[in-house]
Amino acid sequence: MRDEVARGLAAPHKTLSPKFFYDALGSKLFEAITYTDAYYPTRCEMQILTAHGADIARAIGPAVALVELGSGQSTKVPLLLSHLPDVRAYVPVDIDAATLTEAARRLRRQFPGLTVVPVAADLSGPWALPDLPEHARTVVFYPGSTLGNLDPAHATAFLDDLGRRLAPGDGLVLGIDLEKDPAVLEAAYDDPAGVTAAFNRNMLVHLNRVVGTDFAPRRFAHEAFWNADAHRIEMHLRSLGAQVVHLGPHAFAFDDGETLHTERSYKYTRERVDALTAHAGFARQAWWTDPQGWFGVGAYVRTSEPTP
Ligand code: SAH
Ligand code: AVI
Repeated sequence: MRDEVARGLAAPHKTLSPKFFYDALGSKLFEAITYTDAYYPTRCEMQILTAHGADIARAIGPAVALVELGSGQSTKVPLLLSHLPDVRAYVPVDIDAATLTEAARRLRRQFPGLTVVPVAADLSGPWALPDLPEHARTVVFYPGSTLGNLDPAHATAFLDDLGRRLAPGDGLVLGIDLEKDPAVLEAAYDDPAGVTAAFNRNMLVHLNRVVGTDFAPRRFAHEAFWNADAHRIEMHLRSLGAQVVHLGPHAFAFDDGETLHTERSYKYTRERVDALTAHAGFARQAWWTDPQGWFGVGAYVRTSEPTP
């Protein structure tokens, strides 16, 4: 983690992975974001899962194992589990072990017959699923538009890798945020109560504690804007004045106004999601959006090998 942070701060345009947002406080701040009026994605996806949980279950077919990627507080999965009576094992995978453990405890209470096998892993590195019973048909649930935090090349590689891990006939339920009016997008990433700003700055607090940087979080301002050419919202932390940040023997100088790029949140169209999933060998069975068409949930079955 130290090396990765040092590399990001040494880059010509300083950048850090959004995975560093998520310590225990970062996960709570993300949850708080989902309660703001401005952050529509969670509301829209919950609306789709509530209205179409049974249709989604029908479209992907019966599952024995349900794997959730970037599961966080596991708040959405009950809406699927209640329509998938054959699921015996639920495998939430997340980088934040504290939140994962808390969520697993809650799920076990809510679904007493369910075996919950939490996996604390960084999905951007090598990761492995636990041994599941042979021929246990697996469905992967990847909600929240977390795939959208990967650059297109990484998103393609990630889904291709997922395709290779799954068996023919396995399923995927993917939740993804869609392109819309930039004003709506920008408001969602800069809520008036400043929760998103706190979430963004908390990355610095997290890194100070875990890798020993000496960021002064109050000396960085939150910024979010729509980059139309790249189809993404960008979040940055803008340096308020010139300052130097240290990490072990390294010193990283920030000019006044220079930014540290902390997140990319790509917004898709159904056509671009179709291209990504098809490349990875997944055939779309069905697709739903909320009534405004702001967020999409697709159900896919792994029908072929990922494109080499
Ligand atoms: N799925 C939830 C949470 C989305 S927030 C929802 O839809 O509301 C993104 C989640 O992905 C967080 O819980 C975060 O800890 C996790 N995450 C981000 N980067 C990750 C990585 N590299 N590996 C594993 N989990 C990651
Ligand atoms: C988890 N991820 C999809 C969120 C997003 O919308 O990109 C994280 C987030 N960043 C700012 N607000 C929420």
